[in-house]
Amino acid sequence: MRLDSLCGVDLATGRIGSLEVRVRGACRDEVDRIAEFYRGLSSETLYLRFMNVSRDLRPYLERVFSAGGAVVVAESQGKIIGSAEVVPASRELAEVGVVVHDDYQGMGIGRILTRALLKAARITGVRRAVAYILPGNFRALRLARKVGFRVEENMGDMIKLVLDLP
Ligand SMILES: CC(C)(COP(=O)(O)OP(=O)(O)OC[C@H]1O[C@@H](n2cnc3c(N)ncnc32)[C@H](O)[C@@H]1OP(=O)(O)O)[C@@H](O)C(=O)NCCC(=O)NCCS
Repeated sequence: MRLDSLCGVDLATGRIGSLEVRVRGACRDEVDRIAEFYRGLSSETLYLRFMNVSRDLRPYLERVFSAGGAVVVAESQGKIIGSAEVVPASRELAEVGVVVHDDYQGMGIGRILTRALLKAARITGVRRAVAYILPGNFRALRLARKVGFRVEENMGDMIKLVLDLP
């Protein structure tokens, strides 16, 4: 299975309080819908995820699909509340990133989404995941460590974390 064939594949479901959450591979024809989700994020959340606050993420999402990567979305009642991307960097290495809508952070959705993303990466042949996180982003660092990432390098303005996916 290739990363770009995850369109529509169910990866996880969960219940958080009264919230039903479903995580699945997104399809290329959903780029506008996912970009709309990104447009609704706060500047702080966008900055923590992308280190800039550009509000039109369509070109980025197109690049993810063109590079053979995958977008994984968390939805509740048909609404996107989180998105994660895995982008091939070399044959078995891929970069991952995740974001949860401001209104839904701190509820466990990031964990469900990240685990689903890593599962997707693993079944598509990725053997090592890499993530870049800002040093003060304790929530993301904590989540990354919890799912098994370890710090490979503190680059000063950025922390590089890696996770082997045997
Ligand atoms: C990082 C992010 C994806 C995590 O998703 P989330 O749904 O908010 O996180 P979760 O609720 O799943 O919690 C993950 C862990 O962070 C912990 N956490 C929650 N709030 C925290 C805080 N203010 N400070 C430190 N840790 C915190 C949680 O307790 C949980 O750890 P636990 O399992 O020990 O309880 C989300 O906060 C986000 O979108 N942040 C902005 C974008 C970003 O930073 N992306 C990561 C860089 S690629």
